[in-house]
Amino acid sequence: MDKILNALIMKLAYEKKYYRNNMNITEMISKDHLKLSKPGNEYEQLKIDLMKCKKCDLYKTVKNKVIGYGNRDARIMLIGEAPGANEDREGKPFIGRAGEKLTQMLGYIGLKRDDVYITNVVKCRPPQNADPQKEWIIACNEFLDREMEIVKPKYILTLGRFASRVILNMELTMGQFSGNHYKLENGIIVVPTYHPSSLLIQKGERKEITRKKIANDLKLLKSLMGENNG
Ligand code: URA
Repeated sequence: MDKILNALIMKLAYEKKYYRNNMNITEMISKDHLKLSKPGNEYEQLKIDLMKCKKCDLYKTVKNKVIGYGNRDARIMLIGEAPGANEDREGKPFIGRAGEKLTQMLGYIGLKRDDVYITNVVKCRPPQNADPQKEWIIACNEFLDREMEIVKPKYILTLGRFASRVILNMELTMGQFSGNHYKLENGIIVVPTYHPSSLLIQKGERKEITRKKIANDLKLLKSLMGENNG
Protein backbone atom coordinates (compact mmCIF):
# COMPACT_ATOMS: atom_id res chain seq x y z
CA MET A 1 0.00 0.00 0.00
CA ASP A 2 2.84 2.37 0.94
CA LYS A 3 4.48 1.67 -2.42
CA ILE A 4 1.30 2.60 -4.35
CA LEU A 5 0.86 5.77 -2.28
CA ASN A 6 4.47 6.78 -2.88
CA ALA A 7 4.18 6.17 -6.61
CA LEU A 8 1.02 8.30 -6.67
CA ILE A 9 2.67 11.15 -4.77
CA MET A 10 5.69 11.04 -7.12
CA LYS A 11 3.46 11.09 -10.19
CA LEU A 12 1.51 14.08 -8.89
CA ALA A 13 4.69 15.97 -8.07
CA TYR A 14 6.04 15.21 -11.55
CA GLU A 15 2.86 16.41 -13.24
CA LYS A 16 2.80 19.55 -11.14
CA LYS A 17 6.40 20.28 -12.00
CA TYR A 18 6.21 19.79 -15.76
CA TYR A 19 2.70 19.86 -17.14
CA ARG A 20 1.39 22.76 -15.07
CA ASN A 21 4.38 24.73 -16.28
CA ASN A 22 3.38 23.96 -19.87
CA MET A 23 6.74 22.40 -20.66
CA ASN A 24 7.19 19.94 -23.48
CA ILE A 25 9.44 16.91 -23.22
CA THR A 26 12.47 18.59 -24.84
CA GLU A 27 12.28 21.58 -22.52
CA MET A 28 11.77 19.26 -19.57
CA ILE A 29 14.88 17.20 -20.37
CA SER A 30 16.90 20.31 -21.18
CA LYS A 31 15.97 21.90 -17.89
CA ASP A 32 17.10 18.90 -15.90
CA HIS A 33 20.28 18.62 -17.97
CA LEU A 34 20.90 22.27 -17.26
CA LYS A 35 20.95 21.56 -13.55
CA LEU A 36 23.31 18.63 -14.01
CA SER A 37 25.73 20.33 -16.39
CA LYS A 38 28.89 21.67 -14.81
CA PRO A 39 29.06 25.45 -14.79
CA GLY A 40 31.56 26.62 -17.39
CA ASN A 41 31.24 23.56 -19.55
CA GLU A 42 30.54 25.48 -22.71
CA TYR A 43 30.26 22.46 -24.98
CA GLU A 44 27.63 20.81 -22.74
CA GLN A 45 25.75 24.09 -22.58
CA LEU A 46 25.93 24.39 -26.34
CA LYS A 47 24.39 20.92 -26.71
CA ILE A 48 21.59 21.88 -24.34
CA ASP A 49 20.90 25.12 -26.17
CA LEU A 50 20.89 23.32 -29.51
CA MET A 51 18.48 20.74 -28.16
CA LYS A 52 16.10 23.54 -27.18
CA CYS A 53 16.48 25.47 -30.45
CA LYS A 54 13.32 26.21 -32.43
CA LYS A 55 14.70 29.07 -34.50
CA CYS A 56 13.66 27.44 -37.75
CA ASP A 57 11.25 24.64 -38.68
CA LEU A 58 13.83 21.89 -39.09
CA TYR A 59 13.55 20.83 -35.43
CA LYS A 60 10.07 19.50 -36.20
CA THR A 61 11.29 16.79 -38.58
CA VAL A 62 14.61 15.60 -37.14
CA LYS A 63 15.38 12.53 -35.06
CA ASN A 64 18.49 14.17 -33.62
CA LYS A 65 20.12 17.55 -33.84
CA VAL A 66 23.75 17.06 -34.77
CA ILE A 67 26.34 19.06 -32.88
CA GLY A 68 29.98 18.91 -33.97
CA TYR A 69 32.11 16.05 -32.75
CA GLY A 70 35.75 15.23 -32.26
CA ASN A 71 38.80 16.76 -30.69
CA ARG A 72 37.85 20.01 -28.97
CA ASP A 73 41.53 20.91 -28.66
CA ALA A 74 42.10 20.37 -32.38
CA ARG A 75 43.96 22.89 -34.50
CA ILE A 76 41.79 21.96 -37.46
CA MET A 77 38.05 22.27 -37.76
CA LEU A 78 36.20 20.66 -40.66
CA ILE A 79 32.91 22.23 -41.64
CA GLY A 80 30.37 20.43 -43.82
CA GLU A 81 26.90 21.25 -44.99
CA ALA A 82 24.18 19.51 -42.97
CA PRO A 83 23.50 16.06 -41.49
CA GLY A 84 22.17 13.30 -43.73
CA ALA A 85 20.01 10.31 -42.78
CA ASN A 86 22.76 8.40 -40.92
CA GLU A 87 23.87 11.47 -39.01
CA ASP A 88 20.27 12.31 -38.13
CA ARG A 89 19.76 8.79 -36.76
CA GLU A 90 22.98 8.68 -34.72
CA GLY A 91 23.33 12.35 -33.80
CA LYS A 92 26.94 12.55 -35.03
CA PRO A 93 28.35 14.32 -38.09
CA PHE A 94 29.85 12.54 -41.09
CA ILE A 95 29.28 8.94 -40.12
CA GLY A 96 27.68 7.75 -43.37
CA ARG A 97 29.35 7.11 -46.75
CA ALA A 98 30.46 10.73 -47.08
CA GLY A 99 32.01 10.32 -43.64
CA GLU A 100 34.02 7.30 -44.86
CA LYS A 101 35.33 9.38 -47.75
CA LEU A 102 36.17 12.16 -45.32
CA THR A 103 38.18 9.75 -43.17
CA GLN A 104 40.11 8.71 -46.30
CA MET A 105 40.72 12.36 -47.20
CA LEU A 106 42.16 13.02 -43.75
CA GLY A 107 44.32 9.90 -44.02
CA TYR A 108 45.82 11.29 -47.23
CA ILE A 109 47.60 13.97 -45.17
CA GLY A 110 48.29 11.72 -42.22
CA LEU A 111 45.40 12.86 -40.03
CA LYS A 112 42.91 10.77 -38.09
CA ARG A 113 39.41 11.80 -37.12
CA ASP A 114 40.61 12.15 -33.54
CA ASP A 115 42.98 14.89 -34.69
CA VAL A 116 40.18 17.17 -35.86
CA TYR A 117 36.83 18.62 -34.85
CA ILE A 118 34.05 18.01 -37.40
CA THR A 119 30.85 19.98 -37.67
CA ASN A 120 28.25 21.31 -40.10
CA VAL A 121 26.86 24.70 -41.04
CA VAL A 122 23.33 23.41 -40.40
CA LYS A 123 22.78 21.14 -37.40
CA CYS A 124 19.43 19.60 -38.36
CA ARG A 125 18.85 17.30 -41.33
CA PRO A 126 17.00 19.15 -44.08
CA PRO A 127 14.01 17.19 -45.45
CA GLN A 128 15.04 15.09 -48.47
CA ASN A 129 18.60 16.32 -47.93
CA ALA A 130 17.65 19.64 -49.55
CA ASP A 131 20.33 22.29 -50.10
CA PRO A 132 20.71 24.46 -47.00
CA GLN A 133 18.41 27.48 -47.10
CA LYS A 134 19.45 30.91 -45.92
CA GLU A 135 17.06 30.91 -42.94
CA TRP A 136 18.49 27.57 -41.68
CA ILE A 137 22.05 28.82 -42.03
CA ILE A 138 21.22 32.04 -40.19
CA ALA A 139 19.39 30.14 -37.45
CA CYS A 140 22.40 27.86 -36.90
CA ASN A 141 25.05 30.58 -37.14
CA GLU A 142 25.13 31.11 -33.39
CA PHE A 143 25.98 27.44 -32.79
CA LEU A 144 28.78 27.43 -35.34
CA ASP A 145 30.22 30.61 -33.84
CA ARG A 146 30.12 29.08 -30.38
CA GLU A 147 31.82 25.91 -31.61
CA MET A 148 34.61 28.05 -33.04
CA GLU A 149 34.91 29.87 -29.72
CA ILE A 150 35.22 26.56 -27.89
CA VAL A 151 37.63 24.80 -30.26
CA LYS A 152 39.55 27.91 -31.34
CA PRO A 153 40.91 26.26 -34.50
CA LYS A 154 43.91 27.66 -36.34
CA TYR A 155 42.74 26.11 -39.60
CA ILE A 156 39.36 25.43 -41.12
CA LEU A 157 38.77 23.03 -43.98
CA THR A 158 35.41 23.85 -45.53
CA LEU A 159 33.73 20.96 -47.32
CA GLY A 160 31.73 22.01 -50.35
CA ARG A 161 30.42 25.30 -51.65
CA PHE A 162 27.79 25.94 -48.97
CA ALA A 163 30.23 25.75 -46.08
CA SER A 164 32.85 27.67 -48.06
CA ARG A 165 30.40 30.46 -48.89
CA VAL A 166 29.18 30.73 -45.29
CA ILE A 167 32.65 30.84 -43.74
CA LEU A 168 34.26 33.07 -46.35
CA ASN A 169 31.20 35.19 -47.13
CA MET A 170 31.95 34.96 -50.86
CA GLU A 171 29.59 33.71 -53.57
CA LEU A 172 32.15 31.70 -55.54
CA THR A 173 31.83 28.28 -57.14
CA MET A 174 33.80 25.35 -55.75
CA GLY A 175 36.01 25.46 -58.84
CA GLN A 176 36.91 29.07 -57.95
CA PHE A 177 37.43 28.35 -54.24
CA SER A 178 39.57 25.23 -54.69
CA GLY A 179 43.34 25.74 -54.87
CA ASN A 180 43.25 28.86 -52.68
CA HIS A 181 43.48 29.68 -49.02
CA TYR A 182 42.11 32.65 -47.09
CA LYS A 183 42.79 34.32 -43.78
CA LEU A 184 39.81 35.41 -41.67
CA GLU A 185 39.94 38.63 -39.63
CA ASN A 186 40.53 36.59 -36.49
CA GLY A 187 43.61 34.98 -38.08
CA ILE A 188 42.07 31.57 -38.83
CA ILE A 189 43.33 30.13 -42.12
CA VAL A 190 40.60 28.65 -44.29
CA VAL A 191 41.21 26.07 -47.01
CA PRO A 192 38.07 25.34 -49.02
CA THR A 193 37.72 22.00 -50.77
CA TYR A 194 35.06 19.86 -52.41
CA HIS A 195 32.51 18.02 -50.31
CA PRO A 196 33.50 14.34 -49.92
CA SER A 197 30.10 13.29 -51.29
CA SER A 198 31.12 14.69 -54.69
CA LEU A 199 33.45 11.66 -54.90
CA LEU A 200 30.41 9.44 -54.36
CA ILE A 201 28.21 11.20 -56.89
CA GLN A 202 30.60 11.98 -59.74
CA LYS A 203 31.84 9.42 -62.25
CA GLY A 204 34.71 8.92 -64.68
CA GLU A 205 36.95 11.80 -65.66
CA ARG A 206 35.00 14.39 -63.69
CA LYS A 207 35.48 12.40 -60.50
CA GLU A 208 39.20 12.01 -61.23
CA ILE A 209 39.55 15.80 -61.65
CA THR A 210 37.73 16.42 -58.35
CA ARG A 211 39.87 13.80 -56.61
CA LYS A 212 43.04 15.57 -57.78
CA LYS A 213 41.72 18.98 -56.71
CA ILE A 214 40.85 17.62 -53.26
CA ALA A 215 44.32 16.08 -53.00
CA ASN A 216 45.89 19.46 -53.87
CA ASP A 217 43.72 21.33 -51.36
CA LEU A 218 44.69 18.86 -48.66
CA LYS A 219 48.38 19.20 -49.52
CA LEU A 220 47.94 22.97 -49.36
CA LEU A 221 46.47 22.65 -45.87
CA LYS A 222 49.33 20.44 -44.79
CA SER A 223 51.98 22.78 -46.16
CA LEU A 224 50.35 25.81 -44.49
CA MET A 225 50.36 23.91 -41.20
CA GLY A 226 54.03 23.08 -41.74
CA GLU A 227 54.90 26.72 -42.51
CA ASN A 228 53.28 27.83 -39.28
CA ASN A 229 54.69 24.96 -37.25
CA GLY A 230 51.22 23.48 -36.95
N1 URA B 1 27.22 15.65 -45.26
C1 URA B 1 27.48 16.75 -44.52
O1 URA B 1 27.70 17.82 -45.03
N2 URA B 1 27.51 16.58 -43.21
C2 URA B 1 27.33 15.42 -42.61
O2 URA B 1 27.38 15.37 -41.39
C3 URA B 1 27.07 14.31 -43.42
C4 URA B 1 27.02 14.43 -44.74
